[in-house]
Amino acid sequence: MTQATNSVRFVLDGAIVEAEGERRTTTVLDYLREQLHRTGTKEGCAEGDCGACVVLVGELNAGGTAVDYVPVNSCIQLLPTLDGKSVKTVESLKRADGSLHPVQEAMVSCHGSQCGFCTPGVVMSLAGLVQTVAAPTRGEINDALSGNLCRCTGYKPIVDATLKACAVPAEQLKIDDSADLPLLKAIRRPTVPTYSLDGDIVVQPVVRTRKGNEFVSPATVAEVADYLSRHPHATLLAGSTEIGLQVNKQFTRPEHIVYLGNVAELRRVDDQGAFWRIGAQVSLTAVEALVAEAYPDFAEVLRRFGSPPIRSTATLAGNIANGSPIGDTMPCLLALGATLQLRRGDATRAVALDKFYTGQKQNVLQPGEFIEAIDLPKPRTGEVFRAHKISKRFEQDISATCCAMSYQLSGGKFANVRLAYNGLAPSPCRTPKLEAVINGRTPEAVTTAELDAAIAASFTARDGLRATWAYRSLVARNLVLQFVEESTESAKEAA
Ligand SMILES: Cc1cc2nc3c(=O)[nH]c(=O)nc-3n(C[C@H](O)[C@H](O)[C@H](O)COP(=O)(O)OP(=O)(O)OC[C@H]3O[C@@H](n4cnc5c(N)ncnc54)[C@H](O)[C@@H]3O)c2cc1C
Ligand code: FES
Ligand code: FES
Repeated sequence: MTQATNSVRFVLDGAIVEAEGERRTTTVLDYLREQLHRTGTKEGCAEGDCGACVVLVGELNAGGTAVDYVPVNSCIQLLPTLDGKSVKTVESLKRADGSLHPVQEAMVSCHGSQCGFCTPGVVMSLAGLVQTVAAPTRGEINDALSGNLCRCTGYKPIVDATLKACAVPAEQLKIDDSADLPLLKAIRRPTVPTYSLDGDIVVQPVVRTRKGNEFVSPATVAEVADYLSRHPHATLLAGSTEIGLQVNKQFTRPEHIVYLGNVAELRRVDDQGAFWRIGAQVSLTAVEALVAEAYPDFAEVLRRFGSPPIRSTATLAGNIANGSPIGDTMPCLLALGATLQLRRGDATRAVALDKFYTGQKQNVLQPGEFIEAIDLPKPRTGEVFRAHKISKRFEQDISATCCAMSYQLSGGKFANVRLAYNGLAPSPCRTPKLEAVINGRTPEAVTTAELDAAIAASFTARDGLRATWAYRSLVARNLVLQFVEESTESAKEAA
């Protein structure tokens, strides 16, 4: 049965915390600091950028035998999403005998901290990393720190500290959560819907205000669909990496929030033979692992998407539904021919992603309709996929433009070219005119002048905050040229 009380229950260091009477938009950070006085967790930017607020959120694994942790930016996560989960803050790392975690010890001995403001977030990102990777490389440590900004120490001592910490036996790096396990089982969220005596689904709130505004956390897709038919303008909450910003920076207070994080069906990837059906709540971290072998360039775009605490909760569906003109996953998904599975009530329909957007942040979703899954084709015979993101910073930055291209070479000529960009139009899009310039040509026959002409004919020249049109259009052409030239070289090597 769905929890009927107006409280959020989560586990913190061997105790169940029952947060009663909180707003549906209270952030995890505010609750930790203001109600639980866990002030080690800091607020820097309140928009997921600086990492001062990183904590670990844990869930029981599938077998119920251990807790799986992910780093999250607590400043943009809403408290009711914690219901049924566990949290570890920097204070949690202190051992029963008062000693520090090896990462903390090494941060002290390697001088990894100066003013100290970033340090709790840094420590939590690193403590999270070593839960799954006991002997990380420098590259893995750099990746893990990409969402933690330190403006005084510099990263070398911090990376050195991590390497030093990892010299201890792996079990000493593990968080001791033995006391949490039984408690997590006790507050485990339901996995089936509740029905009224008339057989109707009853979606119980986690938080409900006196005015009737509520935060619900359904367990099944049927409950989501049912709730949305009754509240077609409810706000869907997936990874909260957009919604959290709207709450903090624009002070939005959605009346009805439907959290998708506990819907097991939406957290699954189904192998359908020719394609993967990726549930709407699958995290970008999981998608990165899924596509690593088949589409390394897509995985690289994802590695540079935000930071680990962003990717641990953010979803493909959230990126697509948000529809930012500079959304990063869409060029890859468009070039790979992804299709969306949409659902409204009991009705489902499939919409190709290149038919989804109708304008800037506009799409074909009807009130009460939502993305249930994304169908991502697996590589077809001879298919080549290339993608690259151009941004001012390597990671934790949004695109000036990202270009993705898939093609086959048939008799030395391009065939089935699909080319897509973000950053050049009101929404991420394919570019039929550029595709036409390339299709049927040998790589050597594709000319710069024709690409430039096709770009000029495809888009309205406009300068943006992140880049001028002159820069974007040049980069857009050069990325295609690079992909084309590489294919010339691989064709020569194959000959
Ligand atoms: C620090 C930071 C860095 C970022 N870096 C990048 C980046 O590098 N590249 C990039 O493209 N973006 C970036 N973003 C933006 C954001 O992380 C992405 O858009 C992310 O994919 C949103 O997914 P989410 O699950 O967090 O969505 P949420 O915030 O939960 O939701 C976003 C929108 O999608 C809707 N929605 C969610 N799920 C569904 C569904 N199943 N059906 C219909 N509607 C749905 C929500 O109602 C909401 O309108 C960044 C954000 C932050 C804060
Ligand atoms: S306070 Fe900066 S990421 Fe949360
Ligand atoms: S030690 Fe001052 S910001 Fe990192």
